[in-house]
Order: sequence, then structure tokens, then C-alpha cells
Amino acid sequence: MAGEWFESVADAQRRAKKRLPRSVYNALVAGSEKGLTLHDNIAAFDELGFAPHTAGLSNERDLSTSVLGQPISLPVVISPTGVQAVHPEGEVAVARAAAARGTAMGLSSFASKPVEEVVAANPQTFFQIYWAGTREQIAGRVERARAAGAVGLIATLDWSFSMGRDWGSPHIPDNISLREMLRFAPEALTHPRWLVMFTKTGRIPNLTVPNMAEPGGTEPSFFGAYGQWLQTPSPSWDDVRWLREQWGGPFMLKGVTRVDDAKLAIDVGVTAISVSNHGGNNLDGTPATIRLLPAIAEAVGDQIEVLLDGGVRRGSDVIKALALGARAVMIGRAYLWGLGANGQAGVENVLDVLRSGIDSALLGLGRGSVTELDRTDVLMPADFERAVGV
Ligand SMILES: Cc1cc2nc3c(=O)[nH]c(=O)nc-3n(C[C@H](O)[C@H](O)[C@H](O)COP(=O)(O)O)c2cc1C
Repeated sequence: MAGEWFESVADAQRRAKKRLPRSVYNALVAGSEKGLTLHDNIAAFDELGFAPHTAGLSNERDLSTSVLGQPISLPVVISPTGVQAVHPEGEVAVARAAAARGTAMGLSSFASKPVEEVVAANPQTFFQIYWAGTREQIAGRVERARAAGAVGLIATLDWSFSMGRDWGSPHIPDNISLREMLRFAPEALTHPRWLVMFTKTGRIPNLTVPNMAEPGGTEPSFFGAYGQWLQTPSPSWDDVRWLREQWGGPFMLKGVTRVDDAKLAIDVGVTAISVSNHGGNNLDGTPATIRLLPAIAEAVGDQIEVLLDGGVRRGSDVIKALALGARAVMIGRAYLWGLGANGQAGVENVLDVLRSGIDSALLGLGRGSVTELDRTDVLMPADFERAVGV
């Protein structure tokens, strides 16, 4: 929509906050317990500095790289999130935006759109899976993703079911009954544009998770699927190996925070890991991912692809992560703010803001390509790093 262009992720966040009902906005802020990790993910980036050059800079700058064998035009990939209720087109809008900007889409098992529709919108889709249900049920989801044309599998295994937040959790209805409608009405009515978007589609958000459906079965509700996950014993490294073998293609383990776990991930044959604390939604007190990255990248970066997610809000954050050893980053809230602010165009806008920030930082640092970045490109305080499991 004309006149809706924004110049920063912070601006997108402000607009999303204004546009979305409070409970939907708060569900995106998320975080757990006291929010220590949520805040450190962002604050830690601010501790890193640059020392740009003045002349002799590179006039040609190449932002392209690849992740899980997929060429991407900038080192930023969409991290899987359950986008529920932010926008009627949900993950399909995000997938289209990523495709339009030449990058890959991570699709959550808890997404609101079926994997088939998302792959149709972006052939560079990685399907994300949780360890929920029996091996047979998990294998069924893997086969469905493969049949749909997903080109990579992301296993997210770091979830610790931390429920409470000191600032309160938004109420998420299991399905929208008349009673829920009435309860939600005052919020929805004060956000008319969001309401109009959904009423135009002829339905209100139904909070089902189509990618968790049994073959031939109905789409379970968000909480129905969550319940199954909660009751599933957590996976062993043998289970992770089994999952990787079931898939047989490019495979990412998301949620690694320790050097020893990164090495075990190599042993079970992963293609990539993401140094991730689930955006601060897990065990609170886990350090910022950018503090954990250098030791992990140094230990395993020459054997597998190392990505980072958590707290990326600007192009210079991407540059800092790459300088400390990441091949690329994944973004969560940044694109969710864009989606909430302006749908597909808002997500494209966020990717453009990041691209421009990455390019500016490369220019200042005198680098011609994102693959040339190294530790000398950032100023890191002595006590910055957290090397865990060394
Ligand atoms: C609202 C929300 C929902 C999320 N849902 C999922 C999910 O379904 N699967 C997953 O692997 N990660 C999920 N994540 C974590 C993101 O993939 C990513 O790790 C995190 O958002 C990165 O931090 P950032 O938001 O600061 O960029 C979710 C994050 C948020 C904020």
C-alpha cells in the first residue's frame, strides 16, 4: 500500500503494535519468565562496534550466499514461526515476500497455512518439525513435506515448555466460539483495519495447525497439537539421527547453544545448525546467541553451516553475526512486525531494510562480499563471549 513504507524494523514494530489487537501483538513479543534472554539477544548486539574505513572502499558488494544448498540473494532467511492471526494470508504472504526478495522460507509445523500452499509460493521452503507424537506420526509429517516439495528440514528441539511471563501471557483461544468472539470483540473493534482484513476473507482466524493433521484427518487446533507435543518424551541423539535419515536431504538442527552439542550434531550427520535460544522464549537466562556464536563457529564452522537467530533487527546485526562466524542469520520478530504492519509488502520492506543495512556496513568496512567478513571487522569487548560446553 502506498505511503506505508517504513525505514527501520523499529518503525515496523511500532506500526504492527498500532494495527494489531493487543493480544496478537503480545503473542509476537513472546519471551519467557523475566525476559533476560529476550533482552540480552538484542542488547548484546549493541556491545559490538565497528571501525569503518574512509577511502579505498569497495564499489561492488556481493550479498549472496547459500544455506542448505539453496542460493540466496542476502544472508537472511525466514525463521519458522507460528504466525497465527497476524494476517489472513499468514505464511503464504511471508513466503511470497521471501521469494520476491530472493531468499528462503522456514515454515513452522505450527503455522496457519499448509506446507503445499507455502511451497507453491516459495519453492525454497524448509519445513520445520518438532519432536511431537510417535515416530510414525513424525515420519508422516516428513513425508508430507517432501511430497509438497520442501527443500530442507529444520528440526527445532530446544523447546523447554517455559510457560509463564512476568508481564503476562496473551489469551489464545483454542477456537473462536461465540463466547470467544464476545471476549475478543472490544480489542478487535479498536483495531478496525485488522478486523476488516479478516472479515474480507470471510472468516476470522481459526487457530488450527494444518501441518500437524494426520493423513486424511482434520486440522488439529493449536492447543490440541501442543498437548501432543507436551506429552512426547524428548528425543535422544539417536532419534535426531533417525529423523535426519528419514529426511535424507539437507537438515538443520535449530536451537544449539553449546559447543559440545554442536559437535554431537555433526556426529548425527546434520548439514547445518542454528545457534538459537528460540528468540528468548525458552529457558530464561540462556545467554544471547551472538555471545554463544564465536566459540561454536570456531569449533564446527569448517564442517557444517552455522547460522544464528535471535535479536537480529538491522543489517549491521547481520554483519556482526557473519563477522563472528555465521554463514547467514534467520529472523523471527523482524518479519512478523513487517507482516503485522503491512502484509507481504511489509515483509519485503523488512528484507529491503536489512539488505540496505548489510550493504552500508559492507561499504564502511571496505568489504566486497559477505563471505569476506571476519572477526577483525568487529570491536568486541573482552567479556563479551560465552563459550559453553567447551
Ligand atoms: C511468535 C513466535 C513464534 C515462534 N514459533 C516458532 C516455531 O513454531 N518453530 C520454531 O522453530 N521457532 C519458532 N520461533 C522462534 C523463531 O524461529 C526464532 O528462533 C526467533 O524468533 C529468533 O529471534 P528473533 O525473533 O529475535 O529474530 C517463534 C518465535 C516467535 C517470536
